[in-house]
Amino acid sequence: MFSALKPLPTDPILGLMAAFKQDTNPNKIDLGVGVYKDEQGNTPVLRAVKKAEAFRLENETTKSYIGLAGNLDFCQKMESLLLGEHKALLANRVRTAQTPGGTGSLRVAAEFIKRCNTNATVWVTTPTWANHISLFEAAGLGVKEYPYYDYENKDLLFNEMIDTLKSVSKGDVVLIHACCHNPSGMDLNAEQWEVFAELAKDVGFTVLVDIAYQGFGTSLDADAAGLRLLADTVDELIICSSCSKNFGLYRERVGACSIISENAATADVSNSVLLSVVRSIYSMPPAHGADIVATILGSNELTQEWHQELDEMRGRINEFRGLIKTRLAEAGVEQDFSFIERQHGMFSFLGLNKEQIERLKTEYAIYMVGSSRVNVAGISHGNMDYFVNAMVNVLK
Ligand code: LMR
Repeated sequence: MFSALKPLPTDPILGLMAAFKQDTNPNKIDLGVGVYKDEQGNTPVLRAVKKAEAFRLENETTKSYIGLAGNLDFCQKMESLLLGEHKALLANRVRTAQTPGGTGSLRVAAEFIKRCNTNATVWVTTPTWANHISLFEAAGLGVKEYPYYDYENKDLLFNEMIDTLKSVSKGDVVLIHACCHNPSGMDLNAEQWEVFAELAKDVGFTVLVDIAYQGFGTSLDADAAGLRLLADTVDELIICSSCSKNFGLYRERVGACSIISENAATADVSNSVLLSVVRSIYSMPPAHGADIVATILGSNELTQEWHQELDEMRGRINEFRGLIKTRLAEAGVEQDFSFIERQHGMFSFLGLNKEQIERLKTEYAIYMVGSSRVNVAGISHGNMDYFVNAMVNVLK
């Protein structure tokens, strides 16, 4: 049976991660996978996480099954983190399932969408996170793209985006990134969110908000402002969230899928379908990571420490957005890199061509995704000169 299989190429992002690991160049720089790095190039366990883990080790009383929705305390705390004190929560219209990471959440959402409408098409931004398209297609859904990023002007193609979305069918789903757009770093401003939310209401399509970087853009609340505005405007919403980046819990696989329904009764129906989807895919999520998040969010002291660590991570990324722009200009690079400062989160497109990206990899061991998406957190004071010199040489 297996002889019928054809080998497939490695995933563009994860393949890069493996290639970087194997590279023996002592100057190598990893600007590929979206994982936060500190000045030393490490991805440390957050202090608040370590403390919550110590608490859990002492206080965990059972390894029995956790239940389909996972840790209910975690689910409730995630709803508050995402929505604040939103009227949808007060009206008991939100149901959440803890999922194995943000990707698990998206897959659960895809199956949920299929149960609502087997013929639904999911509309994603051009460009979008490389895994979005294959993930929805693997779930048997159609995928179409809508204009989003203007490679030429390093801006949003907002008018084109709205024009395209005007013709989306009522039974379709539009995926939008809440903040820190992956891969471009280009986000909607407040007025654009309003236009988008009104359009969703008028046209009647369902919105899926992917929020994987809350707290990495401007602040926890500001990064969820568009999502909250949408929840103010439309009756139904799907929210896929991740704790990989903001809690640094990448390998623990912690995320959530939240469904906002029209009223409490329809929310119960949505929840029964959500849980049936979960049961048919992985039965129940793992406990450890979500317990850590619930422990942190349940303690004022740990929450404060986590906020501080999140501020440090965001501050470092933003500092380097500014430094990359300034240092490249100082080194005489003619191209304008000021767009890097207008973007949010870990990613930006440098706007390099294939040959330049390849040269950076083979001549300098600087790794970035083939679209020239870079993880800004991969730059440090220690490797900045090396990076700038390499950029000057490939841009000549
Ligand atoms: C990324 O975009 O680099 C991250 O979300 C990691 C991944 O799984 O692709």
